[in-house]
Amino acid sequence: MAVKIRPIVLKDAASYRQCWDTVAKERRSFYWYEAPPLSEVRANLRKSLRKKTPILVAVDDERVVGWAAVYRAGVPSLSHGGDLLMCLLPEYRGVGLGTKLAAGVLKMARGKFDMMLFCVFGKNKSARKLGQKLGFELCGTEKKAVKMAYGFDDLLILQKHLRRA
Ligand SMILES: CC(C)(COP(=O)(O)OP(=O)(O)OC[C@H]1O[C@@H](n2cnc3c(N)ncnc32)[C@H](O)[C@@H]1OP(=O)(O)O)[C@@H](O)C(=O)NCCC(=O)NCCS
Repeated sequence: MAVKIRPIVLKDAASYRQCWDTVAKERRSFYWYEAPPLSEVRANLRKSLRKKTPILVAVDDERVVGWAAVYRAGVPSLSHGGDLLMCLLPEYRGVGLGTKLAAGVLKMARGKFDMMLFCVFGKNKSARKLGQKLGFELCGTEKKAVKMAYGFDDLLILQKHLRRA
């Protein structure tokens, strides 16, 4: 497995969407049950690139097998925080790629946010572990907030305070 991690480019749109869609369809770890249509994903990616949103992809022979991004909320009262979102195709999990992607994207986000949020579902042990490893702390729980393939689950809000540049 020769996987490289690099910043996303517009021509990754279809492959990035495919990766997102595969993970969404598991209905275990993402809010979405499927990825948005490609035209929407491409348009949003174009905007993200223009705004210099930190997004990294893990590519295996140019196929996107995972990604991590830090999004800024679109409303002023929340814009000091970043939301970490990430995923890997199932066959690429558990070998440290998630740690590398998250650490990389947090580095790109350094100096741009006062705090970072990582929202994970209660049963998502690997994401919880990853969050802890990167210095996120549990700051709140929404009980039975999401409906997944395995039933209702809690939404755990993990937070990490940062220093603005
Ligand atoms: C969450 C996710 C990104 C983690 O990436 P990964 O590459 O599998 O994780 P890593 O291999 O870097 O491991 C991170 C830590 O979690 C632990 N871990 C990995 N898989 C685990 C599992 N199934 N159960 C418990 N811990 C696990 C590892 O041991 C590691 O901790 P350590 O370094 O102290 O040993 C990946 O599993 C994934 O894409 N899941 C689906 C999408 C998702 O959950 N996204 C997060 C919410 S936005």
